[in-house]
Amino acid sequence: MPSTVRKKKEKRLEQKAEKHRKVSWKPATMVYPVPAVMVSCRDKSGKDNIITVAWTGIICSDPAMVYISVRPERYSYHMIEESGEFVINLTTEALVKKTDFCGVRSGRDIDKWEACGLTRGRAFKVEAPVIEESPVNIECAVENIIKLGSHDMFIAKVLAVDVEERFIDERGRLALDKCKLTAYSHGEYFALGKLLGTFGYSVKK
Ligand SMILES: Cc1cc2nc3c(=O)[nH]c(=O)nc-3n(C[C@H](O)[C@H](O)[C@H](O)COP(=O)(O)O)c2cc1C
Repeated sequence: MPSTVRKKKEKRLEQKAEKHRKVSWKPATMVYPVPAVMVSCRDKSGKDNIITVAWTGIICSDPAMVYISVRPERYSYHMIEESGEFVINLTTEALVKKTDFCGVRSGRDIDKWEACGLTRGRAFKVEAPVIEESPVNIECAVENIIKLGSHDMFIAKVLAVDVEERFIDERGRLALDKCKLTAYSHGEYFALGKLLGTFGYSVKK
């Protein structure tokens, strides 16, 4: 390779390295964005509550399994632990302020259902109530609790998914884009933006 071409190439690589220069932060949970969901739960005496949880996600497709990570000091913790159940309620733009509220106030002090004007609904499979105003309620049964440190991870099987009928399209699929779901990133709530692609579109002809 002639030296002028090589020098140009080296310069381009240097510029690229400069553009993407990184600094190293201390270890932190930087896997953003995530959903901030409202988890509804009920203890054995019938008292129920809502807790906002962002440390949540899918861990297995078949069987359908999810997790939530909850600090033991949360009021909701004992409800989920003793009942072995909870419901993940997906949050929408209309619910985002209530989601925040349920994440900064404790059920020890107030009834969050009443304070937020949220409605308890009957779940199909679990005793814990669903939040009627949420378009998708994921009914879960705890299979395992893993102590990790600040948070305990509740690994759970999905027993039922309750979907608001008006969000089911003509092909019988859930039109999640119509629900106006929100995301949480580094302390901020976001509306979801434009569609960038669909599963496998990168290799489709
Ligand atoms: C956006 C957001 C996400 C949160 N994620 C979690 C979480 O993943 N796990 C957790 O234990 N607490 C989380 N919290 C904090 C609890 O929701 C909060 O402490 C709440 O008041 C607990 O309610 P409770 O005492 O009624 O159970 C989050 C709060 C907010 C606002």
